[in-house]
Amino acid sequence: MKILVIGQGGREHALVWKIAQSPLVEQIYCLPGNPGIAKLANCPSVAFRSDTSDFSQLAEFAQGEGIDLTVIGPEDPLANGIVDVFESHDLPVFGPNKRAAIIEASKDFAKGLMSKYNIPTAKYQTFEQADEAIAYVEDLAQPVFVKADGLAAGKGAIPGITTLEAIKAIQRVLVDRDFGSAGQKVVIEELMEGEEASFTVLTDGSDIVVLPTSQDHKRALDNDQGQNTGGMGAYSPAPVITPELHQQVMESIVRPTIDGMKVEGRPYKGVLYVGLMITDQGPKVVEYNCRFGDPETQVLLPRIKSDLIPAFTACINGTLAQVEIELSSEAAVCVVMASGGYPQRYQTGRPIVGLESLPPTEQPTVFHAGTATSQNGDLITNGGRVLGITALGHDIQTAVECAYRGVSNINFDQAHYRTDIAHRAIEHVK
Ligand code: AMP
Ligand code: GLY
Repeated sequence: MKILVIGQGGREHALVWKIAQSPLVEQIYCLPGNPGIAKLANCPSVAFRSDTSDFSQLAEFAQGEGIDLTVIGPEDPLANGIVDVFESHDLPVFGPNKRAAIIEASKDFAKGLMSKYNIPTAKYQTFEQADEAIAYVEDLAQPVFVKADGLAAGKGAIPGITTLEAIKAIQRVLVDRDFGSAGQKVVIEELMEGEEASFTVLTDGSDIVVLPTSQDHKRALDNDQGQNTGGMGAYSPAPVITPELHQQVMESIVRPTIDGMKVEGRPYKGVLYVGLMITDQGPKVVEYNCRFGDPETQVLLPRIKSDLIPAFTACINGTLAQVEIELSSEAAVCVVMASGGYPQRYQTGRPIVGLESLPPTEQPTVFHAGTATSQNGDLITNGGRVLGITALGHDIQTAVECAYRGVSNINFDQAHYRTDIAHRAIEHVK
């Protein structure tokens, strides 16, 4: 089979790495890809802008190359209808169509779905007018989260611990339009307390296959200090999800979500990532994502023993009931090495050294995210999150040690990483 992967981050490198292990696959293409991906896949230069809905050039490329399956990494092309365009060209494509991707693309839609189908989540209200939103938080007088309705690259959720903070956040979204058209509406929800975990499933719209649980580290600095980022590291499994909670999440959240989407005339096919808060009242939904998590994918895929190509194909064909996935009992940890300053301003173009000198035994896998090749062929930094150093181990502690051994061998100017990845998991198993 010829496979095309769309995207260029660590998640897509992990997807390409996993797909490359499939005996069914003869060739992989990745657009736009990155230097790490280019070692496993063809990354031809095809004009590609993920923020438009003109995907016809990509579809024509896939047709011309005889691509048998396309896997979409990021949310933007999904929300903009890439799956619809590929389907209209009779190209098999893994991911939700535009009508279903709205589960991530509109928080107001997602909250409405949860409310209609009694899926546990924080209480909320949606506003288009700043004065009404402000009156609501003043009246509520309790800690809230203020969220831009649309896609905001993970930056659109602002804590409003005090009423003043909440008002400022409302003004940023609705008045200053910091998030552009993603901020035409604002969703204001109660603050939930607890531990977060990610629950990821494959679905063909009816049947569901559960992938390993995971947890990421959103804050930039150790001890969950600093700003929210796309994720500074991740681990799997998430021990906070006990077998009882697992069942509860399936029954009270995942099953009603997939069934609800079907009833709404928006059958959901692809991967659904449910961000959970494990509260004293049980698991509640923080967010839905219509795609694999990043960096969660980097720890999730190494723990899947089965070939994923038949599972992806079954999601498209509606035959997921026939698919079983075998999971590894090992734990996985990913430590993200980022450019100093991320998630705010940072510099790029810094040479990356040490990748070749990693210890040969128990060698971690290095997934590239923000890397590029310089004019003279050297590997350089090219983004906020640069590399994801990923290791498997018979337990989480062993995986942590291996990943950090890898990190200590790699260097670039102003490299920044957290030193406490997986600390909560280690506490749980103590
Ligand atoms: P979101 O963009 O909705 O995924 O939110 C980003 C992050 O903000 C989440 O992963 C949580 O860490 C935090 N967050 C969002 N909503 C809430 C909430 N209602 N209560 C507590 N934390 C939240
Ligand atoms: N790591 C969080 C996400 O992928 O949305």
